[in-house]
Amino acid sequence: MKQFKAKVISNKKIAKDHYILSFKAAGLRKKVKPGQFFNVKVNNSYKPLLRKPFGAHKITRKGIEILYKVVGEATEILSTKKKGDVLDVLGPLGNGFDFKSTAHSSAKTGTGSPQPVVATLVAGGHGVAPLAALGKELSDAGHKLSVFIGARSKKEVVCEKDFRKIGAKVFVATEDGSKGYKGLVTNLLKNKLRHTTYDIRDTIYACGPNPMLKEVAKLAKRYKIPCQVSLEEYIACGTGTCLGCAVKTRSGYRLVCKDGPVFDAKEIIWR
Ligand SMILES: Cc1cc2nc3c(=O)[nH]c(=O)nc-3n(C[C@H](O)[C@H](O)[C@H](O)COP(=O)(O)OP(=O)(O)OC[C@H]3O[C@@H](n4cnc5c(N)ncnc54)[C@H](O)[C@@H]3O)c2cc1C
Ligand code: FES
Repeated sequence: MKQFKAKVISNKKIAKDHYILSFKAAGLRKKVKPGQFFNVKVNNSYKPLLRKPFGAHKITRKGIEILYKVVGEATEILSTKKKGDVLDVLGPLGNGFDFKSTAHSSAKTGTGSPQPVVATLVAGGHGVAPLAALGKELSDAGHKLSVFIGARSKKEVVCEKDFRKIGAKVFVATEDGSKGYKGLVTNLLKNKLRHTTYDIRDTIYACGPNPMLKEVAKLAKRYKIPCQVSLEEYIACGTGTCLGCAVKTRSGYRLVCKDGPVFDAKEIIWR
């Protein structure tokens, strides 16, 4: 982890309230793992007082991309940033997804000759941001992907094309029914699990609002599928010192910013 001044390379609106900001991060490319995040100070004043966490969305030769939704003061300010502006960034932080050992062990437990591992990615809202980086890594490693994207409406569905480009099967759910399945992405996942096939029965990686993650964890338990969830908690220091992001787990309280944000879904004691 390091603190650095990052020059903005670009900042583009990609959908209603959603932006992708790319910043220079020399030497970090090989050090960032999908699921890790950066704690960003969006300006030099005391408003907003705290840094805000954003997952690595794409890790490229030029730098790091974050995908964010404008929901309040900090993200509003972030949306005004232009090429050449400078951000104060702390990171990479947190543990990231444990996709190497999971993929390996899943492959070994298959019957007969090794099968390509099929991973299921479940995204709610801006939770799609870190799953794009994970999807790329898994696809580069030869794994098949089923991706479930949930959003309020068609206008807020992002990254669908990116996932299709890497060969993923993509299923979309919108709450208002303007695209794909009408309803919650967890209901769509439930339907697919009920009616199909081994190919979505491998590790589930999920990121989104906590009620969604709780439901995904329940389904994973019911169908005995290993599941990792990236939790959303309020982050302040981001480095394990303020204890403000503690969550209850089966092995006591753990810190989302340091021990997480990714946890084995079985470990979490859901509220
Ligand atoms: C590890 C981690 C990674 C994240 N990665 C991304 C990302 O890649 N892209 C992205 O768009 N967002 C991400 N978030 C959420 C993002 O940090 C918040 O939306 C952001 O801090 C909002 O700042 P704001 O000042 O604009 O809005 P605020 O005024 O701080 O919040 C606006 C609204 O969002 C709610 N909110 C804010 N932060 C959280 C939170 N952590 N959990 C639950 N509710 C919250 C507030 O209660 C309020 O209703 C991540 C959060 C965590 C914990
Ligand atoms: S945010 Fe301070 S300990 Fe996690």
